Amino acid sequence: MHWFLMATAAVILASCAATAPTPSTVSAATASEELAASGRDIAEAQCAACHAVGVYGESPNPDAPVFRTVLQRYSADVLEEELIEGVRVSHPMPEFQFNPQGTDALIAYLRSIQETPPAQ
Ligand code: HEC
Repeated sequence: MHWFLMATAAVILASCAATAPTPSTVSAATASEELAASGRDIAEAQCAACHAVGVYGESPNPDAPVFRTVLQRYSADVLEEELIEGVRVSHPMPEFQFNPQGTDALIAYLRSIQETPPAQ
């Protein structure tokens, strides 16, 4: 029975190796996708009560701009600084504290959902 398991494992390993794309390109794409994905989690947890945080839909709070266009009016760099300081972006929302990783993630997510890519 052992030989069978070993042989099966070897086949599985071999097929993984054969289909795995080159590590360098993949890890780059995956890292930024993961960053944006955790930014989406933050947005859904902390911002979605008022803002539309996805690629469609209206904001629950009509005064809160939808995130998919927010970088058209706000430069990502400015927003990043303000997020790190705790959001004080001119508005009546609770203050948030993000660590730099959380901020990077949120900005990466915002960039990924913009309808028109910000001119940068
Ligand atoms: C309690 C409701 C509420 C929550 C939660 C909330 N916001 Fe807001 N946000 C608003 C409102 C209302 C405005 C518009 C205020 C104004 O225009 O004066 C706004 C505006 C903004 C703006 C400025 C957009 C612009 O074009 O000027 C940004 C950026 C922003 N919010 C980011 C966030 C982020 C990031 C989160 C989550 C971490 C979040 N907000 C959570 C209510 C909220």
